[in-house]
This record gives sequence, C-alpha cells and structure tokens, in this order.
Amino acid sequence: MRPKELAPPFSWKERRPLFKDNVLYLPSYCKNCGEVETLYSCYSLLSRFDKRAIEYCSGNGDWLIDQALARPDVLWIGVEKRFDRVRKIFSKRFNRNVHNLFIVCGQAEDFTKHYLSEDTMDAIFINFPDPWPKRRHTKHRLMTKDFSFHLHRVLRRGGTLTFVTDDKTYHEEACAVLNSWRLESQAPIENYGASFFKNLWEDKGRAIRYLRYVSSK
Ligand SMILES: C[S@@+](CC[C@H](N)C(=O)[O-])C[C@H]1O[C@@H](n2cnc3c(N)ncnc32)[C@H](O)[C@@H]1O
Repeated sequence: MRPKELAPPFSWKERRPLFKDNVLYLPSYCKNCGEVETLYSCYSLLSRFDKRAIEYCSGNGDWLIDQALARPDVLWIGVEKRFDRVRKIFSKRFNRNVHNLFIVCGQAEDFTKHYLSEDTMDAIFINFPDPWPKRRHTKHRLMTKDFSFHLHRVLRRGGTLTFVTDDKTYHEEACAVLNSWRLESQAPIENYGASFFKNLWEDKGRAIRYLRYVSSK
C-alpha cells in the first residue's frame, strides 16, 4: 500500500474525534476531544495489552515500526499531528504486517490529557521533537511543566521516559522542566534504533543528546 491510499477521514467542516482502523483522529480546534465513543474504543484497544509504550512526534514512523516489530508483546502508540506523516506510518504498518501499533493523528497534549489514564504506560519516548528555537515560538515546544505533569501521571512506577534531541538548548530546557524526575542516565543508548531525523543529524555530525528518567512514584 502507498501512503496516499489512506484517504482523509473527514472534511475540515465535518471534523470530529474518530477511531477508525486503529487510528484515532483528533483534529485541532475540535471541541469534543475525549467524547465517549472514541474514549471507549481507545480504552478497549489499550486493555488488550499488559505492556504499553508510546512515542510522541513519530514523524514518518521508521523508529516506531522497528520497535513494534522487535517487541510484539507491547502495544506501541505513535502520536503524530500531521496527516501526511500519519499516512506514511499507516502504510508501513500495513506493508510490514505490524499488529501491535496504534496510531494517533493529533496533538500529543490532547491525546495524553483526554485519553490516557493514570499508570497505564510502561515507557514513553520523545524522539527529536521540533525545537522551535526562536524565542517567540517557545510556546509551541512540547516539553512544558504541564505536559510533564501528564507524562508523570500516565507512567507506571518504574516506567521510563526517554527524551532525545540534537538541540542543545532544548536539551537544557527539558532537563530544567524534568528536574524533579529521577534521572537514570544521559549516556547514549546502545542500539537505540534509527529515525529519519536521527540519521539526518548524525550524518551532519551533530551530537545527539539523550535523557532517560525513571518514574519513582
Ligand atoms: C523533527 S520531527 C521528528 C520525527 C521523528 N521522531 C524522527 O526522529 O524522525 C518532529 C515531528 O513531531 C511532530 N509534532 C510536533 N509537535 C507535535 C505535537 N504537539 N503532537 C504531535 N506531533 C507533533 C511533527 O509534525 C513532526 O513530524
């Protein structure tokens, strides 16, 4: 299957939360995020697995698909706001016969706040989130105190949060936001897996910065 074969699920005028083919669509500027039908579908899917891991900002899904194939006992959740990229993840999921991957087409913050209950995730990964380097764009950065509160809420005791970036300033900011978390390591993680942006920055000789925290609630 090719990415374009996944048709847009609704027009802009008819946009609404929708769960279809193990994809949850959460359009921006949509008021009824977390309404009961999508909430129930999401809950039913999550409850079929004992272990769950989530990647925010999945891009074209290369890293995520490899992880899902390597750990079929885990439900992997990929959250990506752009539909053109969700299409790529969707087609890879189909072409590579991945049966343990749930795709969320929407904002990380909306999905986490409205659809994830307390103590439900074993691992959280944020790989190369957009750094929004300009000062006036700071508000667009994903890693905020409010978002970290929800990450802590959904992570199980002993669960891990991994944040990976090539951006020195964003790395420092994430350290500051997560200063009350238990830092396990900042060392590069062996066999971490490849992604489009990881390959891109490594080829350009940029240093990749890793942060790994453990939940000790
Ligand atoms: C720099 S790319 C990294 C993609 C991938 N992780 C990789 O390593 O190749 C960042 C991705 O995060 C997505 N993104 C940014 N903010 C987001 C948010 N708040 N919720 C969901 N996706 C987001 C963007 O659309 C983009 O695809």
